[in-house]
This record gives sequence, C-alpha cells and structure tokens, in this order.
Amino acid sequence: MFEPVKIADNVYWVGAVDWNCRSFHGHSYSTHRGTTYNAYLLKGARNVLVDTVYAPFADEMLERISRVIDPSDIDYIVVNHVEPDHSGALPVISQIASRAAVYSTARAVEGISSYYPGISVAETVKTGDVLDFGGRQLTFVEAPMLHWPESMFTYLPDQALLMPNDAFGQHMASGFRFADEVDHGYLMEEAAKYYANILLPYSKLVLKKIAEVQQMNIPIEIIAPSHGLIWRHEPMQIVEAYVRWAAQETEKRVVVAYDTMWQSTEAMALALTEGVESAGVDVRHYKLGVSDHSDVMRDILDAAAVVVGSSTVNNGVLPTVMPLLHEIKGLRPTGRKGLAFGSYGWGGGAVKEIEATLAAAGMDIFEPGLSAKWCPGEDSLTACFDAGKRLGNFLNNG
Ligand code: FEO
Repeated sequence: MFEPVKIADNVYWVGAVDWNCRSFHGHSYSTHRGTTYNAYLLKGARNVLVDTVYAPFADEMLERISRVIDPSDIDYIVVNHVEPDHSGALPVISQIASRAAVYSTARAVEGISSYYPGISVAETVKTGDVLDFGGRQLTFVEAPMLHWPESMFTYLPDQALLMPNDAFGQHMASGFRFADEVDHGYLMEEAAKYYANILLPYSKLVLKKIAEVQQMNIPIEIIAPSHGLIWRHEPMQIVEAYVRWAAQETEKRVVVAYDTMWQSTEAMALALTEGVESAGVDVRHYKLGVSDHSDVMRDILDAAAVVVGSSTVNNGVLPTVMPLLHEIKGLRPTGRKGLAFGSYGWGGGAVKEIEATLAAAGMDIFEPGLSAKWCPGEDSLTACFDAGKRLGNFLNNG
C-alpha cells in the first residue's frame, strides 16, 4: 500500500505522510496542514538510507523500502539530524539492517546514544568527507544550528541532489511529493511559516551556510528536504526565499496583535489598525485569544512593523499574549519597528513588558507605548489612530 517515489536515478523517497500532525516542537508550532517525514533510499552496489522517520511511522517507511530492496540490505544509514522526527525509526531499521553502518557528525554521537542506547555511530563525518557506496559517492556539509548543533546536509553529486534535512522544508502533508505539483501559494506560505517558527533565530548562520555552499560551486538540481515537498523545478527559488527571510527583508505591512479583558485594549487595537489603514498600508489584525501564535509569527516574518497590545493583569500581560511574546523573544525578528499599547486599571505593567520584549528581540521602538486608564475615551482612541497613521506614513516614506 505504501509505495516509494522515485525522485532521481536510483534515489527513492521512502518517508511517511503524517496527515494528522497538528503541532510540532512541544505545541510551540501549529501544523494545520500536517507534515511528512522524508527519508531517502539510495540504491547501488551498496545501499544507503538518508534519515529515517518519526517512530510511529517506521512500518510505513519499511514498506516503502521493501518495494525497492530488502531492508536488511541497507549498508549505510546517514543521520543528518538527531531530532526524533527523523531518527525515531533508527532502532527498528538498525535491527533489520543489522550490518548497516551509521554515519553522522561527531556532534550527533552523544544524541544518538542518549536517545537510542545500543546504537552506535560507525563513522563520524565532517564537511567535505566522502562516502563511497559501491562506485557512487555522497559528500557531507556540516550545518551546525540549522537548526540543532549536529545538523548536516548530504549531497549526491551524480544526481546534483542536496538533502539538507530540515532546511528548505515545509510542514505540509500531501499526496504529491514535488513542489511543482501543489498549489504554489500554499507551499510558500508553509515554507515561510516554517522559516519564521524554526530558522529565524539562526538567520545569520543561514546566510553564511548558503554562501558557503554557493562557493563550493556544486550543481544543485534537486533539493530534497526532510519535511514536505521536494524542489526539483527551479530549486533555487526556495534558496532565494531563504536569503530574503534570513536578511530580514520586510514588506510595507503592519501586524497588530493583542488581547483584551473588557474591550478597552480591543478598542485601542481597532483605532491603531484604522490609523495604519488610513495611511494606505497593509495591516494584519490578530486578537490573540482566538488566533494562533505560529500564524502570527509567519506574518511577522515579512512585516516591517509589529504592534502588540494587552490589558494589564497582575502587573503584566494577559496569559493569551504570553505565547506570542515568548516566540518573539526566542525567534528574534530583528530590525522591525515595534510599538506597544494597552489599557490598565491602576498600576499598569503590560505596556512596559511588551516594549521590553520587542526591544530585546532587536526591534526599534517606534514611539513610547500607548496606555489608557480604565476605558479609553475619545482622546485615547484618537491618539491610537494617530499613532497608527504615523507608523503607516513612516513605512510609506521608508
Ligand atoms: Fe524535523 Fe529538527 O526536525
């Protein structure tokens, strides 16, 4: 039932489709469209499996492999990344392919032995090392912190095929395997959301790694990531998108994200939004209690300004605002304009907390935060509208 998909000469996708995956990384990242765990079988005089799948999908992977070769005939298993969504089936496949030698970076050794006691790495590899598998060759490129310390890319020169593991992926389940077979808008939205929620804090390393690979001058005709669709037509389109996102290039757009206790902060949010709109600038408006913070992060990826608001509760922000602030703090969308706002009853505190978080993430505070005591009157709402308009006009002139 589970068929492999040939992606190049003697190269097969033997991964798994997780249609029902709805969150990742401890629920910090929503995956509305599911995901795939991509593993690749390279067939030759010797057989290589590049990455495996999440443990619950081991049988699906094994069935796909067995339609190409007997899984016990795998000679090498390359572990590009220890995170269990890719290494989880290692114990199962290692037991069946008992003579298979595991290859990884030196940094992966500790993780593999910790997650999978009894499995040992036969050979550690570093950038430039070559694995000859019966006349065909693989080379390796270490990619530390993209996005774990032990992450690695594997390259198959005879097919100009790059297998960069998590890089260039998307959390998107599909019956298709190639990027050119699916709706391009959905695909790029998922690729952007993936970058915003996983790779954004490592943007400087992303730029360095792309430059390093470009300097190697190796032809790349297929980019086969470990999640989602495979880039075979114009594969550089995703590399170019990564360069834009990693350079923190933004568009003339404002994200307004907030939550409210008794609609005072909401009235301020609406006035701010109207102000931005009055300047003719695109605005994305999110009430956080009914929104998904991973989706908001995706929009922050290419927004030139981020406006965050909260009512004050217990001297700080509402609990529904915390997840977004947590992500902004960790994912660090730098270089954008930031603005805080919110209502309070007596001591305040939320605006100060938001402003500090936006500044710590590397945003430039556009103006001192807007506060309104109890219920914002006409003056407060006009001040919010005017601030939104000034922000919009600033982007128009930038
Ligand atoms: Fe898809 Fe970092 O694992």
